[in-house]
Amino acid sequence: MHIRSELIGWGHYLPKKVVTNDDLSKIVDTNDEWISTRTGIKTRHIVEDELTSDLAYNAAKMALDRAGLSAEDLDLIIVSSVTPDNTTPSVATKIAGRLGVKVGTPAFDILAACSGFVYGLVQADNMIRLGQVKTALVIGAESLSKIVDWTDRNTCVLFGDGAGAAVLRACEGDGSKNDKGILATKIYADGTHYDYLKTNGGVSSTKTAGFVSMDGKEVFKFAIPALTQGAEVVAEMAGYKVSEIDWLIPHQANIRIISNVGEKLGLPEEKVIVAVDHHGNTSAASIPLALSENLESGKIKKGDLVILTAMGAGFTWGGAIIRL
Ligand code: COA
Repeated sequence: MHIRSELIGWGHYLPKKVVTNDDLSKIVDTNDEWISTRTGIKTRHIVEDELTSDLAYNAAKMALDRAGLSAEDLDLIIVSSVTPDNTTPSVATKIAGRLGVKVGTPAFDILAACSGFVYGLVQADNMIRLGQVKTALVIGAESLSKIVDWTDRNTCVLFGDGAGAAVLRACEGDGSKNDKGILATKIYADGTHYDYLKTNGGVSSTKTAGFVSMDGKEVFKFAIPALTQGAEVVAEMAGYKVSEIDWLIPHQANIRIISNVGEKLGLPEEKVIVAVDHHGNTSAASIPLALSENLESGKIKKGDLVILTAMGAGFTWGGAIIRL
């Protein structure tokens, strides 16, 4: 017998307010044409009076509902975010309290920026396969609008707010590539690129959260091989060729990065999920948001073979291959 983590629930939540490129052109010196052609982003959702935990909570409720479970069934909660409500405690403990999970259920946050959901999935999958927990809730949730400098056109047009969630449960497989659930994962980091994408402040340096700043070209250059590697390595680990998968869900930062990665992997456009046009870059929320939206719409179906691949500040990157 081989324990695998099966994805049994998915959820997402977006704040109501939609900001268009034309709206942004009233705040900074930009225009729809520049943003659309350079990034593929048309609209993004922005929080008004909600917190990151509110976005996470709503995505979690939907994921539990789709899984047909109640909060008491959860043995683990992991939230990935760079925009927590408070510096401490974690968003995960807030969600645990709000959902009403069993007292004692472990809950913690992960900070791996845009790779956060994949990092969270790896932790949950490992704990499930070790038999430490049976059912895990993994959330990516962000209010990036709170750490964006709304006077900086280089960054403020790129990001959005939202949350996505997944419920994983232990299932039995035979250890073959035909099993359902998470078949392979891999995560990486290279701290020598720390300064290319970061906030210009933080608790121990400035006592503030700071605003996002980046060297867009360096990030762009690194993202394409990193996202490609994240997909290739997990396909190989699971015994598949990338061409055999049904869907690629890459981190949603820029349509040019996404298309480039799809091409490098030799995948037809139709197999590459795109959500950046209506979400912008939602960091840790981007992959679970795209996954949940497409499962919900029926485009991605149970039984499909999916690769998630992510890259973010740090730099961090990695992938996961899942049979849904
Ligand atoms: N509207 C209009 N012009 C803008 C602009 C905006 N919102 N933002 C930047 N520009 C200007 C720049 O000032 C620059 O002008 P200059 O040539 O007069 O100096 C010009 O557009 C070109 O900028 P450049 O940086 O060369 O554009 P680019 O083609 O590299 O695209 C990014 C910029 C940010 C879209 C691109 O580098 C990128 O997507 N990088 C990765 C970012 C990312 O994914 N981050 C998160 C990863 S997890």
